[in-house]
Amino acid sequence: MLRVGVLVSGGGTNLQAIFDAIDSGKIRGAKVEVVISNNSGAFALERARQKRVEAHCLSPKSFPDREAFNQALLEMVDSFQLDLIVLAGFLVTIPAAMIRKYRNRIINIHPSLIPSFCGVGYYGLKVHEAALARGVKITGATVHFVDEGVDSGPILLQKAVEVKEGDTPQVLQRRVMEEAEWVILPKAIDMIANGEIPLGM
Ligand code: GRF
Repeated sequence: MLRVGVLVSGGGTNLQAIFDAIDSGKIRGAKVEVVISNNSGAFALERARQKRVEAHCLSPKSFPDREAFNQALLEMVDSFQLDLIVLAGFLVTIPAAMIRKYRNRIINIHPSLIPSFCGVGYYGLKVHEAALARGVKITGATVHFVDEGVDSGPILLQKAVEVKEGDTPQVLQRRVMEEAEWVILPKAIDMIANGEIPLGM
């Protein structure tokens, strides 16, 4: 059984897609051992509790400095002996020590077709605003391994989504989630759990 930890900051619809995929058998051989958020108000924590999965909040604000927070985050992750760490809308920079220790064991979902609309400053609605401003006809989502850069690690899965006439950033964001993010993030976890995507170095 692949031991998975999910890091979240917000609503947790991607987390929910993971839970649903485990329940329906779309993800085989993986279990979510813990959900960790930097934000105590994240609805994702409530989703975890409803599934009786351990849910923890670790806020940078409750530590004297970033170094102390980074260390606590790494210690918490280590304590669950995870095989895979999934960033599902986690808006905190992953500490360098954690990237080193979990090289090619941390995956992220980004709501565009990398290398378009990614990197510093491209998160949440901003990604979709930029796609609409550029006038692209196709956008999508990407699952990638996390390295030291921003959205720069090896790409694992991508799925294209059509941009439609009259789309607002909110409408496009929703379509990208429904048609791409909630599909390829569970799929990547299933493929990893079943040896179709190799983990680690
Ligand atoms: C998603 O758009 C994801 O691509 C991005 O953050 C958002 C998280 O949404 N990284 P949710 O919390 O899973 O609903």
